[in-house]
Amino acid sequence: MSAFQPGELVLLTSQKGKTWLVRAGAGSFSSHLGTVDLQDVVGREEGEFLETTQGAKVFLFRPSLGDYIHKLKRRTQVIYPKDIGAFLVYGDIRPGDVVLESGVGSGALTLALLRAVGPTGRVVSVEIRPEFAELARKNIEIFFGKNPDNHSLVVADVTASPLALQADRVVLDLPEPWNAVGAVSACLRTGGLLVSLSPQVGQVQMVCQELKRHGYANVTTFELLKRTWKIDPRRARPEDRMIGHTGFITVAKKIARTSEEVPTIRDPEAPLPS
Ligand SMILES: C[S@@+](CC[C@H](N)C(=O)[O-])C[C@H]1O[C@@H](n2cnc3c(N)ncnc32)[C@H](O)[C@@H]1O
Repeated sequence: MSAFQPGELVLLTSQKGKTWLVRAGAGSFSSHLGTVDLQDVVGREEGEFLETTQGAKVFLFRPSLGDYIHKLKRRTQVIYPKDIGAFLVYGDIRPGDVVLESGVGSGALTLALLRAVGPTGRVVSVEIRPEFAELARKNIEIFFGKNPDNHSLVVADVTASPLALQADRVVLDLPEPWNAVGAVSACLRTGGLLVSLSPQVGQVQMVCQELKRHGYANVTTFELLKRTWKIDPRRARPEDRMIGHTGFITVAKKIARTSEEVPTIRDPEAPLPS
């Protein structure tokens, strides 16, 4: 257990589960529940609480990456934690990997990529709009407390000429990912994986067609649905509301060109054909 330090991010949490992201020691914070002095957070442990000027309790937690993604300032659609998990696992993103990412948007996926590749890896993020690159840079700096040494943020059109880079992985969250396949494939090493997220199935068809045209193998597409449940002694049932749709995730492997038709590995999580 370690006590909150001045300047640390803190997730203030009401007894009803409403949350606010603040910094320990940074002035005061007011909500409909009253005001707390954030200096009082310093030196406390996670799970302790402060009492507001109106007598309400607000509990103190360190935000997880998932918590932070839901709180960061955004001007674009961000990739949700459930899909980020899939990017990391099905994209097999490992410590030490060099990852080429585009677009950057608000930087939600970038945060997870930076953590996954660690200090021995590198993330090169390409974003066409300078204002989004700047927003992502700020969001990343808030989360890590600095701009990580293993991150390069390039303001450019990723569909234009390829970067001088050899990547182990490519991750795409673009409105027209099929237009980027040619340029990013020139940077991806043979055996490397490409992961792309698109909200519309027409986009998926276009990107899959382009991946196959560029000789990728094991081109697979799936979506993930997350349904939270209410569990207490009186009831155990799904929540009334859920996020119905985020996007389709396509994963593909770049292979050496061959004249043979390449097989697609059967999804081990899919039911066996009857
Ligand atoms: C949905 S957002 C990405 C969100 C991001 N993955 C996140 O989790 O915060 C898509 C981004 O792609 C960028 N973009 C669109 N076309 C691009 C291109 N040709 N080259 C680079 N970035 C591009 C957009 O400006 C936008 O910021």
